[in-house]
Amino acid sequence: MRVLITSAIPYINGIKHLGNLVGSQLPADLYARFMRARGHEVMFLCATDEHGTPAELAATKAGKPVADFCAEMHEVQATIAKGFGMSFDHFGRSSSPQNRELTQYFAGKLAENDLIAEVTGKQVYSNADGRYLPDRYIEGTCPNCGYDGARGDQCENCTKQLDPTDLLEPRSAISGSTDLEVRDTKHLHLRQSTMVDQLEAWIDSKKDWPTLTTSIARKWLRDGDGLQDRGITRDLDWGVPVKNGTEDWPGMEGKVFYVWFDAPIEYIACAAEWAEANGKSEADWQRWWRTDKGADDVKYVQFMGKDNVPFHTLSFPVTILGSNEPWKLVDYIKSFNFLNYDGGQFSTSKGRGIFMDQALEILPADYWRWWLLSHAPENSDSEFTWENFQSSVNKDLANVLGNFISRITKFCRSKFSEAVPAAPLDAIAQERAGLWASLAPLIKEYETHMEAMEVRKSANTLRAIWVVGNEYLQNTAPWTVNKTDPEAAAAIVHVSLNLIRLFAVVSSPFIPHAAQQMMDDMHTDDWSWPEDESALSALSTDHAFTVPEVLFAKIDDETREGWAERFAGKRD
Ligand code: MF3
Ligand code: ZN
Repeated sequence: MRVLITSAIPYINGIKHLGNLVGSQLPADLYARFMRARGHEVMFLCATDEHGTPAELAATKAGKPVADFCAEMHEVQATIAKGFGMSFDHFGRSSSPQNRELTQYFAGKLAENDLIAEVTGKQVYSNADGRYLPDRYIEGTCPNCGYDGARGDQCENCTKQLDPTDLLEPRSAISGSTDLEVRDTKHLHLRQSTMVDQLEAWIDSKKDWPTLTTSIARKWLRDGDGLQDRGITRDLDWGVPVKNGTEDWPGMEGKVFYVWFDAPIEYIACAAEWAEANGKSEADWQRWWRTDKGADDVKYVQFMGKDNVPFHTLSFPVTILGSNEPWKLVDYIKSFNFLNYDGGQFSTSKGRGIFMDQALEILPADYWRWWLLSHAPENSDSEFTWENFQSSVNKDLANVLGNFISRITKFCRSKFSEAVPAAPLDAIAQERAGLWASLAPLIKEYETHMEAMEVRKSANTLRAIWVVGNEYLQNTAPWTVNKTDPEAAAAIVHVSLNLIRLFAVVSSPFIPHAAQQMMDDMHTDDWSWPEDESALSALSTDHAFTVPEVLFAKIDDETREGWAERFAGKRD
């Protein structure tokens, strides 16, 4: 199978918090790693979302030209993503030349198909700031839910997409001024409303999509006034200049496309960037994206938080379908609820919660990956608390997985040697068969959940697989057996050491760094997926290993309290 995977592309304006991570990049990475491990061909793409008011506002705050700010922040985000083990095939930039060209190209196609209207519309102008205030340059009260921190493009609280003129009691996000007036300027509108029936039929056909995805899509499709046409241009300097394909667009001089128009197109452009970065051809990336160029057998999966769902189920599909060209449409949208932090919300603007860079400062990535994925907010919002994090790490990672590995390797070293011990073949075969009988149904269950992107269920099953290791040692008690029957004990140890390799292979989508460490300690590079009981004989007699350093350290109460205190306030 060929699988194209994209994660919602993070805004450039700052370092993401763990709530952002668990709703997009992390589960996408889990799926990408699993599909690769199962032998599928994977293209996993992500990028920074660099245009629009979030970037301009943040650059102004940092006192830097916006292009420089974006270039720097791209590197920062790339490094942190790498630290968390994101296995992107490419981490692109929505400000790339490839995206500029494709965005203008799609606009041209949409215009050709009569899906773009030139509309003289109302824009908010700030007298105090001497400029228009699109999107996030303006804040006010949400007309839908009454939240008073709503921004001009979307309400963070209820996820409704907004226009700046929708806000009640609007104020400038630059100066706070309420001396605003509405002026007429010309903009391009995407005529989404003409495609409601087509979108609805498409969404109805997706019987296996998560309810979270389809319910949000249906809501914006039909609730209230239904799906509205959307302005796709802005009076800003920073962005993709408005063009009709390669031609100038009369009346649109000095305007750029709206960030939400060009950002999802970066999913495609990113593949073109990947090709350029790796010396590949146009055909090499188009076989992922154009159904007339080989992408008809590609399965395309998107990962995102619930606030991103309207753009991916409605707006971006309008761009794709409306182009009337054979571009790949998404096959499955995996969306997530929000992760809360210790009794409140994670908040970038308020600096509340744990941010990706801080997380890596205090613990290796796999501790976070395990907790976040095993508590992924799939069916409802979930909450991070330090107590829960501590107990999850100490129980699952240290007591269950870590302890098994440490017990068996140390026992082997003390009673035999630092190598897989010899034992009678029939004794090994018998141990292997028994152990495999306990593992096989769990491994099947794990594969099923992982294929279905059921993240929490997958984590639960993986934990159950680890538990089999401890139960096996408990039941077979090699340390007792060894006193009377060393050969029987050797057979148990022989098979148990093989179980470490099996654990590394199946765990690597969740905890890739620890899995690599386990493989290194077992002196093996055999990543073959366990298909039958031969998976428990990959390491043969006399195969040397190293007793590992502590794989996962326990978190004590004092440390936990210190962290809870450190992260209680606003980040510096
Ligand atoms: N930058 C947006 C966010 O962080 C996500 C953009 S996803 C894409 O919410 F579709 F636009 F690419
Ligand atoms: Zn709202």
